[in-house]
Amino acid sequence: MVELALPKNSKIRTGKTWPKPAGAKNLRTFRIYRWSPDDGENPRVDTYFIDLDSCGPMVLDALIKIKNEIDPTLTFRRSCREGICGSCAMNIDGRNTLACIFGMDEVKGDVKIYPLPHMPVVKDLIPDLTNFYAQHESIMPWLETKTNTPAKEWRQSIDDRAKLDGLYECVMCACCSTACPSYWWNSDRYLGPAALLHAYRWIIDSRDEAQGERLDDLHDPFKLYRCHTIMNCTSTCPKGLNPAKAIAEVKKLMVERVV
Ligand code: SF4
Ligand code: SF4
Ligand code: FES
Repeated sequence: MVELALPKNSKIRTGKTWPKPAGAKNLRTFRIYRWSPDDGENPRVDTYFIDLDSCGPMVLDALIKIKNEIDPTLTFRRSCREGICGSCAMNIDGRNTLACIFGMDEVKGDVKIYPLPHMPVVKDLIPDLTNFYAQHESIMPWLETKTNTPAKEWRQSIDDRAKLDGLYECVMCACCSTACPSYWWNSDRYLGPAALLHAYRWIIDSRDEAQGERLDDLHDPFKLYRCHTIMNCTSTCPKGLNPAKAIAEVKKLMVERVV
């Protein structure tokens, strides 16, 4: 996984160091990216100290504690706190991951937290995912059928259903796409690993009747073929999925249908 460091000419300011909690014996230091569109200032990195004796073990526990007890202006997304909603994705210690399932004990030294890289920032740790979601919508993430709707349900064999394992679990956190160098440079035209994993999930769904159209749509020098198998996506996915393999399978299907 790529390590992300600030360039020497970074415009990030030294931020505020918040007071240590009184009487705490088990302190952990957090350095957190802060930026607000409202104050016209450059971003800064604030330093907070958390008493681990009164905090849960996950990075999200610390962020919630900071927001509740130290600095209510700290802004981040979260909902399920168990790796299901995908909303707490951020860059922790140089790795894109979900704060709610990433333990503080996995980090040596200070815990450094930044928003997902190479995305516009709405505020603090919140990336603007507008383009990411539009790309997801573009791959038609739903069942496309042409035959008449069955009276009860679209049936699927157990074996065909099993083909979707390792794909349906994606929580759309964007950790993979924002770790992908090809996506950094071409996110306006390259769909990125998350959208392509979902594209593959629908292409191989035995109930779907639009495989040809789906492949036609991806037959484009940018949408699919900007993946150069760098594998950052797979090594960072907090759900243990393999978007690089899904992309390779789509490329294989492309070849198979022309030979
Ligand atoms: S394997 Fe493809 S999608 Fe994954 S990081 Fe590399 S270029 Fe990006
Ligand atoms: S493949 Fe993994 S990293 Fe990418 S969006 Fe889905 S859950 Fe997140
Ligand atoms: S809060 Fe839902 S995935 Fe982290």
